[in-house]
Amino acid sequence: MLSTLRLAARPVVARRAASALTFRAARAGSTWANVQQGPPAFKADSFPQKINLGVGAYRDDKGKPYVLPSVRTAEEKVIASRLNKEYAGITGIPEFTKAAIELAYGKNSSALDRIAATQTISGTGALRIGAAFIARHFPGEKKIYVPNPSWANHKAVFSDAGLAVEQYRYYDKKTIGLDFEGMIADIKAAPKGSIFLFHACAHNPTGVDPTVEQWKEISNAVKAQGHFAFFDMAYQGFASGDTDKDAFALRHFVEEGHDIALCQSFAKNMGLYGERVGAFSILGASAEEKKRIDSQIKIIVRPMYSNPPIHGARIAAEILNNPELNKQWLAEVKEMADRIITMRALLKENLEKLGSKHDWSHITSQIGMFAYTGLDAESMSKLATEHSVYATKDGRISVAGITTENVGRLAEAIFKVKG
Ligand SMILES: Cc1ncc(COP(=O)(O)O)c(C=O)c1O
Repeated sequence: MLSTLRLAARPVVARRAASALTFRAARAGSTWANVQQGPPAFKADSFPQKINLGVGAYRDDKGKPYVLPSVRTAEEKVIASRLNKEYAGITGIPEFTKAAIELAYGKNSSALDRIAATQTISGTGALRIGAAFIARHFPGEKKIYVPNPSWANHKAVFSDAGLAVEQYRYYDKKTIGLDFEGMIADIKAAPKGSIFLFHACAHNPTGVDPTVEQWKEISNAVKAQGHFAFFDMAYQGFASGDTDKDAFALRHFVEEGHDIALCQSFAKNMGLYGERVGAFSILGASAEEKKRIDSQIKIIVRPMYSNPPIHGARIAAEILNNPELNKQWLAEVKEMADRIITMRALLKENLEKLGSKHDWSHITSQIGMFAYTGLDAESMSKLATEHSVYATKDGRISVAGITTENVGRLAEAIFKVKG
């Protein structure tokens, strides 16, 4: 039935392609005659049951963008208070940055008075400020080691700031899991005092995170080499549903006396994507050192964008500082994480029910918004062209795009492609 529907939708696409061809023929010798057609796109597909698993944003069980009720309430409070629209300071709104670092490092962390923090243009902006700070002030080699693979923008952001970028082993294709030995070996092999980027939780794109025990060993290896740990925490709360649990790696490194830097994003855990709310922080050795770092962060931010936008940060500050709203938000984060965990289980269950001989345990052992299916580029292309299932060709799917309604069809499509 579904595939009949799918075929009925095709002629429209075919007709459009044909008319485009006629137009091209009439304009032979066009400047762009050799521009190749890109991969099949979700938007252009008119099949009603098409599935989009390429988006890095949370969707509800109807597949729709989701504004958290706590965010709606906080926003109403912000608007009702009729605050002025004056500039924030260079490092943003203090009530926001203070609450953001408490969320990450822990309210009772003894490190809080040594942390220099600035509000940023979401997680990407935090990475960009962090990269600029390192480029200007890091005493060792200006090179950062990122996991292989990593979020594609890491390399671009760091390179643009003038840092060299190298990869360390992270993902093992054979096990569709962590290449822990490879990772430790690469940490040990890097020159002493190197910079290592770690995804604090919910590794993007693989969904593969080290265990607590593995993080402890990673911390030991990093310490033994005198490396600098640069954490990217874009998904706090989104992995396990618990913001404290997801901050384990970061807090463990702090307890172990590492020098660290941290990038935070509130795009995913508050659904504030377009509001661009984030923070960058560096842990200094003393309150005095923190002050010096603070002053240099300001020198970097001022000529870049002067000061950050205020609306989203006010919303986040309201949620983080109002005890009642905070409780509500934590429950909503858990709800989002739980929906993702449930969809993982359902996808695996459906594949098994169809009789797939494949081991799909990685779908449920991975964590966060993304799953690395282990499907190759050819299979991903078949999913798109034959089944209207769209995701990236590296085999990554956004689990947030799976719903109780489409999971059955998705499993069928994967089963037909992979067996
Ligand atoms: C690992 C990682 N870091 C940083 C970001 C930055 O996101 P944003 O700039 O929207 O906060 C993302 C977003 O997908 C991410 O996956």
